[in-house]
Amino acid sequence: AFGPVGADGPDTFAGGVVGNRRMRRNRRTDWSRRLVRETTLTVDDLIWPIFVRDGDEVEQVASMPGVSRLPVARAAEAAAEAAALGIPAIALFPFTDPGLRDEGGTEAFNPNNLVCQAVRAIRAAAPDIGIITDVALDPYTSHGHDGVMHGNEIVNDATVERLVEQALVQAAAGADIIAPSDMMDGRVGAIRPALDANGFGHVQIMSYAAKYASAFYGPFRDAVGSNKTLRGDKRTYQMDPGNTDEALREAEIDISEGADMVMVKPGLPYLDIVWRLKQTFGMPTFAYQVSGEYAMIRGAADRGWIDGERAMFESLQAFKRAGADGVLTYFAVDVARRLRAG
Ligand code: PBG
Repeated sequence: AFGPVGADGPDTFAGGVVGNRRMRRNRRTDWSRRLVRETTLTVDDLIWPIFVRDGDEVEQVASMPGVSRLPVARAAEAAAEAAALGIPAIALFPFTDPGLRDEGGTEAFNPNNLVCQAVRAIRAAAPDIGIITDVALDPYTSHGHDGVMHGNEIVNDATVERLVEQALVQAAAGADIIAPSDMMDGRVGAIRPALDANGFGHVQIMSYAAKYASAFYGPFRDAVGSNKTLRGDKRTYQMDPGNTDEALREAEIDISEGADMVMVKPGLPYLDIVWRLKQTFGMPTFAYQVSGEYAMIRGAADRGWIDGERAMFESLQAFKRAGADGVLTYFAVDVARRLRAG
């Protein structure tokens, strides 16, 4: 009865070669596994990114099965649905008509651009959901970069001036959280006082503090239509994937400039960064499970290669384990529905 593990017959859970150190005891039953679970994913952890477009057609994003570009009215309905599911916030990204894109990204400062229209429609349809808008010029530039170019260079300070304008237009439309994703130096420090001076002192800033130059953004660039036009790559402003101390310096600067929350992006391949930022600064810390991560899980699941639902939950739980306070994920609505169903 006290034989070694692996001997024939039922385990006695006493003695044997492992003594009393039986890790499996707590895992035997579902109730016990739930009782000892250290991190739990809830609907409060979810931020849902939505793509909006002109006109009134819903358009599938080919590289992101299950994700569509929504006309403004549909985006408002979708946001209301998300609010009803308890999702705290959505994040908006526009597919700008190619005819409206130019070298300077001027459509970004149009107070009636797609994002501003969507913010107003969502505010009316779902007054209590948080609305996050992305500050960066890439959906509006003909070259697909997040800033303005002089020759082949993406110039920092001239871009920051434009980002401030963009942030003010978004705040005026009713955005709750301004999320600069451009990775220019000094943008949080410029946006914060501009918001304050214009009556938007309550508007929060979630900085993409550690945003890497990643291959995992490919499907997103399809979704906003900047993939084919992007001239070169974004390595002169987004971070090198080999770096981690640098992420701490980026976050420290953004926090000192007034960021209310920080974000790490992409997500799963950068959990070490999430962990380090949370441990170091104790700030509200978010991760972006980006388009390529979504596409990998959905693509494999659609082929029957993995259990999509389990992979979705497991990946999101991993963010919580690494210390994230929440996750931007294209799975948000699916997850919220599943959590509600129990
Ligand atoms: C653009 C921006 C990108 C994403 C969010 N904001 C792409 C990029 O930097 O090229 C990527 C999100 C995703 O892949 O899901 N400033």
